[in-house]
Amino acid sequence: MIRSFFVTGTDTGVGKTVVAAGLAAAMKRRGIDVGVMKPVATGGRRRGRAIVSDDAEFLKLAAGARDRRDLINPVCLEPALAPNMASRLAHRAIDLRVIWKAVETLKARHDVLVVEGVGGLMVPILDRFLVADLVRRLRLPLLIVTRPTLGTINHTALTVLAARHYGLDVLGLVVNAHRRIDAGIAERLNPGVLESMCRVPVLGEVPFLGRLSAWSLPHGPFEPILRAVTAEPRRRLTSGLAAASPIAPARPPS
Ligand SMILES: Nc1ncnc2c1ncn2[C@@H]1O[C@H](COP(=O)(O)OP(=O)(O)O)[C@@H](O)[C@H]1O
Ligand SMILES: [Mg+2]
Repeated sequence: MIRSFFVTGTDTGVGKTVVAAGLAAAMKRRGIDVGVMKPVATGGRRRGRAIVSDDAEFLKLAAGARDRRDLINPVCLEPALAPNMASRLAHRAIDLRVIWKAVETLKARHDVLVVEGVGGLMVPILDRFLVADLVRRLRLPLLIVTRPTLGTINHTALTVLAARHYGLDVLGLVVNAHRRIDAGIAERLNPGVLESMCRVPVLGEVPFLGRLSAWSLPHGPFEPILRAVTAEPRRRLTSGLAAASPIAPARPPS
């Protein structure tokens, strides 16, 4: 059975939208009634009197969702900043209640929701409410999009560590080539290193796919990831193994 999940990334621009959209499109092809959400977006574009999020539009198109834009993306701010800063600059307070309402509506309307975060887990939505708090509040398991290139071990380990610190359930990693890369030794070795170091499964790897559009996302790379997400409880590494991970969360200072 496929559950709803939250797509985060080790960084902005790492491929959260592409992976979330690819998986939503794969579900739709399987006949699953999938809804998509981008609860908070920044860097929105003005369209008439509205401010629209390219990510939300991409997700909506890929999933063939017919829900209103303000349900798919209840909070959209124009400044390309972390949400708390964008909110200050735009003189628009972020009201979390509109997010909870939109989530409830879309949950009731669809069998499954694919929710894309903003930036990474430690990005502030409010000064004292981070993306990790949002994931915890939504009670959704996490899919972490990461890059295959040198430097990914540190970013991915920090993200998994933060997820564990917040008590979030990590479904696994998706290693995405968000730009054209020459697959060298780091790119070949990193997925295995990430899996053994973070003790979370790599659910799949997405190659660089060239120029992408929401209505013509290739099926190939996302089908196996969707199968892995579905099969995942059997593959889930036990909490015992997580405890043995070199990146188990530290005990709080006494
Ligand atoms: N596998 C891929 N192949 C080709 N282009 C990609 C791939 N993944 C991401 N991109 C491109 O990289 C950019 C950032 O990806 P995006 O999904 O928007 O990242 P995020 O949502 O994490 O900010 C976009 O222009 C996107 O089209
Ligand atoms: Mg995005």
